[in-house]
Amino acid sequence: MRAWQISSFGVDSLEFVERPTPTPGPGEVLVGVRAISFNFRDLLMIKGLYNPKMRLPRIPCSDGAGEVVAVGAGVTAWRAGDRVAGIFMQNWQDGPLTPARAKGALGGDVDGMLADYVVLKESGLVRVPEHLSFQEAATLPCAAVTAWNALATGDLKPGATVLILGTGGVSIFALQFARLRGARVLGISSSYEKLERARGLGLDAGLNYRDNPDWERWAVDQTGGEGVDLVVEVGGVGTLSRSLKAIRVGGTIAQVGVLADAAEPLSIAMILHKMARIHGIYVGSRRDFVEMNKAVSLAVLRPVGEEFHWTQAREVLGRMEEASHFGKLVLTVE
Ligand SMILES: NC(=O)c1ccc[n+]([C@@H]2O[C@H](COP(=O)([O-])OP(=O)(O)OC[C@H]3O[C@@H](n4cnc5c(N)ncnc54)[C@H](OP(=O)(O)O)[C@@H]3O)[C@@H](O)[C@H]2O)c1
Repeated sequence: MRAWQISSFGVDSLEFVERPTPTPGPGEVLVGVRAISFNFRDLLMIKGLYNPKMRLPRIPCSDGAGEVVAVGAGVTAWRAGDRVAGIFMQNWQDGPLTPARAKGALGGDVDGMLADYVVLKESGLVRVPEHLSFQEAATLPCAAVTAWNALATGDLKPGATVLILGTGGVSIFALQFARLRGARVLGISSSYEKLERARGLGLDAGLNYRDNPDWERWAVDQTGGEGVDLVVEVGGVGTLSRSLKAIRVGGTIAQVGVLADAAEPLSIAMILHKMARIHGIYVGSRRDFVEMNKAVSLAVLRPVGEEFHWTQAREVLGRMEEASHFGKLVLTVE
């Protein structure tokens, strides 16, 4: 098999290697990976910023989709030809997250999906929606499940207002899922062109945060002075303080990301005056993924991204680093 592996930290050190193709043991499934998508976490992982103590070599990436090639003894859930994606935390099937369930994250604790073959536990897979290509399905395991659960924290009624920050993988899925819930969606971005693209996906109003750094005032004005019901917070420089100002009293911040690399001062008083709910999100369980896929299928929802050949992995990580992308960055395995 072929794979990209982290042998030493750094995007330029990512190595394209040959390894023996694994065979599935009892309860395991061999998947021929057809597409992979990058998440911001993968970039941090490859640079050694997510877990500098991670044991190397390690195959990165949590997100991939492909076809079942062979199954090990005792596997009944899958057969050759099934179209599947891996789940982010291989041991989190259902229920609340526990320390034990959090172990086994693909592309971190264990080898990930940036390979043409992977072996996963039979419980570590979900069937992907039929209308999606492998490239589209490969965008789902981390960003989409995270956005799905971020939206669930808001207890949103149709007509509620959601604010998304930026136009990366999580935020564009959050826009799509917010629309499915009948919410009005406000968004900010560094780019007018990206805001225009987001409008094509249902964004109701957008603002460029480079030209308008006080975007929280704009968000409050957009809601007649009340504030938004939910912010999907990706953790840019200084964004949490602004998000706290942007929500209504009793509003929710779904804390998804940590894009800024330095700690920011935060108004604790604002949390109580706003009676804010700040809800941390850590992707989701297999059950969340399955339930989300039902909604994706019913709505015939199509993930948004750009596709590249998987030999371009290093260049594509560069695109993520400079944040020139919109939605997801996807690699096709050939
Ligand atoms: N908790 C979890 O389970 C979980 C799961 C997935 C991701 N995450 C985290 O969520 C964050 C986003 O992940 P991703 O994969 O969607 O990243 P991504 O695709 O790289 O998107 C990042 C985008 O954030 C926007 N951004 C950056 N700084 C900003 C700022 N100061 N204000 C507003 N927007 C800003 C930019 O959008 P524009 O170019 O439009 O400005 C940028 O393209 C990362 O921190 C990631 O680690 C967490």
